[in-house]
Amino acid sequence: MPRPQGKPAGRVTPVANEEMSRNWREGAAGWVANEAIYDAVFAPVTAAIIDAAALRPGHRMLDVGCGPGTLLAAGVAADATSVGVDISAEMAEAARHRAPEATVVVADAQVADLLTDGPYDRVLSRFGVMFFDDPAAAFANIRRACAPRARMAFACWRGLDENPMFTLGSTLLTERLDPQPESPPPGAPGPTAFADADRLSSLLEDGGWGSIDVDPLDFECDYGVSGSDGVEERLATVLSSGTGRLAREQLLPRLGPDGWEALVDDVRAELRRHRVNGSLRFPGAAWLVTAENRA
Ligand SMILES: C[S@@+](CC[C@H](N)C(=O)[O-])C[C@H]1O[C@@H](n2cnc3c(N)ncnc32)[C@H](O)[C@@H]1O
Repeated sequence: MPRPQGKPAGRVTPVANEEMSRNWREGAAGWVANEAIYDAVFAPVTAAIIDAAALRPGHRMLDVGCGPGTLLAAGVAADATSVGVDISAEMAEAARHRAPEATVVVADAQVADLLTDGPYDRVLSRFGVMFFDDPAAAFANIRRACAPRARMAFACWRGLDENPMFTLGSTLLTERLDPQPESPPPGAPGPTAFADADRLSSLLEDGGWGSIDVDPLDFECDYGVSGSDGVEERLATVLSSGTGRLAREQLLPRLGPDGWEALVDDVRAELRRHRVNGSLRFPGAAWLVTAENRA
């Protein structure tokens, strides 16, 4: 029985996904500040998405959860008409700055009317589609803004168990939190919402997508940017993550500035211990997903 596919709504509809919207409003500054680090670490993912999307000059492409606009810039470079949608105004502003030729809309991709700047021949996303409280409705809404046979290509994370990305360095901070944060149930909106490939395929099908392929994308997260050993780069991303922000908010008053700095030094030391051949690197496990608009 297909799930309901959601209603098309106005251009800016701040009703759905409020928690994730707040999360990304608060997290945007850190993500934007560390844009160059993420671009280096996720370069293999970006390349895989671009390759899978088979963008051609003249295509209209939509980047969902565009953040500071890495894929938008690639779309512009490929002479595609490039449109980004992001729920965070700060991310959108950064994307406009990076890709001035692109159109960037601040909206919730689950419910906003995305057709205004469509219809799209290509939908791309790098880690921007896992935050919907009703993913089938979101995939249906995105599809409604697409041309018949439009192609979607995105990357999303596999499970926590395969991805040190979500623990390396941050566990030392989480351990000190009181109360301990609750683990979200499997499939809850968040980075690893689509760890289960079968569930992801069903959600896409319910959203009206066909020819669905969900393939493992294994890559190396190498934080050694521009010849560095990657420790400070990883530390910067840990401290600006949701866990890092929560830890600072809770622990700085409790430990005082010296105690907090000592804890940050412990994280630094932990990261140093994980360097391999001179730089901090570890496996990344994602899905590379392609699908076609059945309409
Ligand atoms: C992990 S970041 C990835 C950003 C960017 N794609 C990149 O790779 O740098 C996830 C992005 O999805 C956006 N996002 C989350 N939920 C969204 C929603 N419902 N509609 C549109 N964007 C959303 C966030 O604001 C954030 O910019």
